[in-house]
Amino acid sequence: MEKYSITTAIDYVNGEPHIGHAYEKILTDVLSRHYKKRADKTFMLTGTDEHGIKIQKTAKSLNITPKELCDKNASAFIENWKLLDIDYSKFIRTTDSYHKKTVQDIFEKLLENGDIYKHKYKGLYCSGCECFLAEKDLDEAGCCPIHQKKPDVVEEENYFFKLSKYKEKIKEHIKNNPNFIQPDFRVQEVLNQLEDIEDISVSRAKTNVEWGIEVKSDPTQVIYVWIDALSNYITALGYDVNGNHGQNFIDFWPVNYHIIGKDILKFHSIYWTGILMALGVELPKGIYAHGWIMIDKNKMSKSTGNVVSPKSVMEAFSLDKPDSLRYFMATSAIGGKDGNYSDDDFKEKVNADLANNIGNLLNRSLNMLVKYFDGEIKEEFINDSLVKETNTVIKEVLDLFDKMDITLAASKIVSLADEANKFVSEKAPWALAKEGKLDECGKVLYSVLNLMIKVALLIEPFCPNIAKDMALQLKTDINKKYFEIEDYMLKTGKLISKEEIHPVFLRLDSEIAGKSKKN
Ligand code: MSP
Repeated sequence: MEKYSITTAIDYVNGEPHIGHAYEKILTDVLSRHYKKRADKTFMLTGTDEHGIKIQKTAKSLNITPKELCDKNASAFIENWKLLDIDYSKFIRTTDSYHKKTVQDIFEKLLENGDIYKHKYKGLYCSGCECFLAEKDLDEAGCCPIHQKKPDVVEEENYFFKLSKYKEKIKEHIKNNPNFIQPDFRVQEVLNQLEDIEDISVSRAKTNVEWGIEVKSDPTQVIYVWIDALSNYITALGYDVNGNHGQNFIDFWPVNYHIIGKDILKFHSIYWTGILMALGVELPKGIYAHGWIMIDKNKMSKSTGNVVSPKSVMEAFSLDKPDSLRYFMATSAIGGKDGNYSDDDFKEKVNADLANNIGNLLNRSLNMLVKYFDGEIKEEFINDSLVKETNTVIKEVLDLFDKMDITLAASKIVSLADEANKFVSEKAPWALAKEGKLDECGKVLYSVLNLMIKVALLIEPFCPNIAKDMALQLKTDINKKYFEIEDYMLKTGKLISKEEIHPVFLRLDSEIAGKSKKN
């Protein structure tokens, strides 16, 4: 039985979701939906990261309790993922009681094994990163280069995790498993970071940080956010320190991929790997670090005022289904590099690929079938034009998914519709019908509609609603798995009537599209 499991990073809830968070969840959902068409059992995990000084401070500034802030914003994340049709299997909140209990158990186990020790420490703490920084990590102004803020000087007695003990083992694992860190160009970056790795602080004094999970054997300390946050990947699946694991842990750990942003690769590839080694838990099969989404080529930030939320894009373009936004986002950052969102690029790409290319072709072909054959597919129409080419592309698409090249996989799918469009222009079925060559005309329409079934099945992970609508008009079950794709899938007999034909995707209205989407 083939199983597939995948996770996203869990988002901080000190703000509402933006298009960068959405990009990661869409990318992960596309992969997960793709594997639903391949594997027998799949699991996708996402959620929210709710502890730490940042959340404590934001709640204070809003005059509400941290829990109130978490509840409000966790709901906003859930609502946005619903709007985007993110089909996760589980949503974990780090304030969930089962998570808190297991994190405490994990901490105690690491203490008992001697992997965690207490140590007095003075360091520079960036609350944006929720971690200590070294002098050399700071920019010329002495600020954190990501958050552009001076870190706080913190002097505390904390618990430390003996990460340095695992340094060589982690290095060996990365070197022996070339697919562990992806894309490839990130591997050296991690190996370089590993060179400077020291033991890490894994707790904060409760007098300084109240909003966290207490250390069970020492309630004066709270567990530092990264050990709390990273553990979500196993607590959500039912990991138990004494080995009485839940079924999801048995079925789905180790996961195929942790999908995360490039900024938190160090925490996943080094810290998390070390923690799992110390716990004696198998390592994830892969960690994929995606690039960042910029807005009109600029970094998104509250101070610049250019933060775009997925909900606001959907509202401004009057989208009742998220398919076009999913398609655009999933393909917007190539090969783990940074990507860009702009209203114009969004409109242009989805109008070209989804409306003009795929949507129009299906609509035109179905209308011709009704006009010339009263919507009927005759036995004699079946022929092998485009079948071989389609099979080649299907194989390429699946290979590209294996290589995590989602952007190219999508453009290969669209290229199928391109080929079919060219085929229709060359064969001119309308002219064949006029000349009375009805069999030839029928064959052309068969080839195109048969190909469109495969386009629908392949595009489903990106555009589940459009694909469903295509399949409805092509009388196919959209839930078919890839292995059920056959050469001749279009059934003979009456396919469709005039009334049943409708566009699967309308061009984005240019006037509506001009509205601002800023929060
Ligand atoms: N809570 C931590 C992750 C813990 S995972 C065990 C965190 N949260 S975050 O809210 O700051 O970011 C969540 C995810 O969104 C991260 O993977 C991060 O890289 C990603 N992104 C945040 N802004 C982004 C963009 N502008 N573009 C793409 N992804 C971005 O880090």
